[in-house]
Amino acid sequence: MQEVEYIVSEIDYGQLRDNDYPITKKTIYMNNGAIAPTPLSTIKAMTDFMLTCAEGGPDSPSISEYSMSLLEELRTRIAHLINCNHDEVVLVQSTTEGLNMVGNGLDWKRGDAIVVRGGRHEHYANYLPWVALSQKKGVQLRELAMTDENGYFDLGQLEKLVKGSKLLTLSHVLYNTGAVMPVEEVGRIAQENNVLFCVDAAQSAGTISVNVKKIGCDFMAFPGFKWLCGPTGIGVFYCSKKAFEILEPPEIGGESATLSEQNVLAYLDMPARLQAGFRNFPGAAGLEASLRYILRIGLERIRKKNMNVANILREEIAKMSTVKMYGPDDESKRSSIVAFMPLKADSSSTLVRQLEQNRIMLAARDIGAGKKVVRAAPHFFNSEEEASIIANYIKGLLR
Ligand SMILES: Cc1ncc(COP(=O)(O)O)c(C=O)c1O
Repeated sequence: MQEVEYIVSEIDYGQLRDNDYPITKKTIYMNNGAIAPTPLSTIKAMTDFMLTCAEGGPDSPSISEYSMSLLEELRTRIAHLINCNHDEVVLVQSTTEGLNMVGNGLDWKRGDAIVVRGGRHEHYANYLPWVALSQKKGVQLRELAMTDENGYFDLGQLEKLVKGSKLLTLSHVLYNTGAVMPVEEVGRIAQENNVLFCVDAAQSAGTISVNVKKIGCDFMAFPGFKWLCGPTGIGVFYCSKKAFEILEPPEIGGESATLSEQNVLAYLDMPARLQAGFRNFPGAAGLEASLRYILRIGLERIRKKNMNVANILREEIAKMSTVKMYGPDDESKRSSIVAFMPLKADSSSTLVRQLEQNRIMLAARDIGAGKKVVRAAPHFFNSEEEASIIANYIKGLLR
């Protein structure tokens, strides 16, 4: 399926804000790197699904068929989004669940090694599972040192570190600085060294192009509720055809396996083998609607809009002598996340609270050494005008 099938020719962002994002009438919400508001059409899709089930009987044959076809439709759209086969798409609850499937599903031996970029600088969802493995199973944790404050590293150093390791993991886009990591180069190094490659795409899926074939990863995880504007409680775990054979399903149940008359247990094919138990059907209805919404705008157009807003904000905030900016200057190397730190110690959280009192929603996020940055994360429903308003408030509050 080609993206061109979905894209509409023109987007009127004013109308989109008015019709689908009521929050924009009273609040400037730029905390989409945490949870994005769902468009009203998504809420309607979830309500319609629930009503259909309530009226038709949630497990009557025809409704059950409808629910299953919904999951199939959702997986097809996700496959389109990240360029994989639909049976490589596993529906999970969250990024964390997907990453833990890797942590708990591979056959770890004492002395196996995992390479993780930046250590504590990664989101804890992509750090604690590996720390836990090192503590429980004696797996060696090799932290790929950062060479700058934005979270980058030396590829030569990575080549040395990856030798003899079993898994290499990093985020596609960093949650704290917004830096886009060179995942394709990293994927090449992983492949050359026969190392499994896992990508946390929580901050990239839905805001920049994500292509698992180009990246060359074995595993990827992301949620529905950030840049994809879906509901909470549903996310995606990508497991490549090659990798699923070595991944022990973390759970087993009627939906994921069979038991023969001779008591032989056998897992079903992908993705069912990794989906024990019923899925979050209303969440799937919501995420499917949100994906349709996102793909209608188109990722290229979303990227352009997000960067317009981000760049206004970044340029205005960078002019202030009272802040330190994070994230690469080169636009092609950052997402729309705009991260900065007020120079007065410990004031990021205070500033976020002060902004909230003025109905502006940003976030404070860890950046290492006990410090936090203020993070603005604009998405397509935010406007250039909102960026200027935020910058003015920050100027006033930090004066
Ligand atoms: C980079 C990154 N990874 C993982 C997560 C956790 O996501 P989830 O709540 O879907 O487990 C987040 C959430 O902020 C994130 O930014």
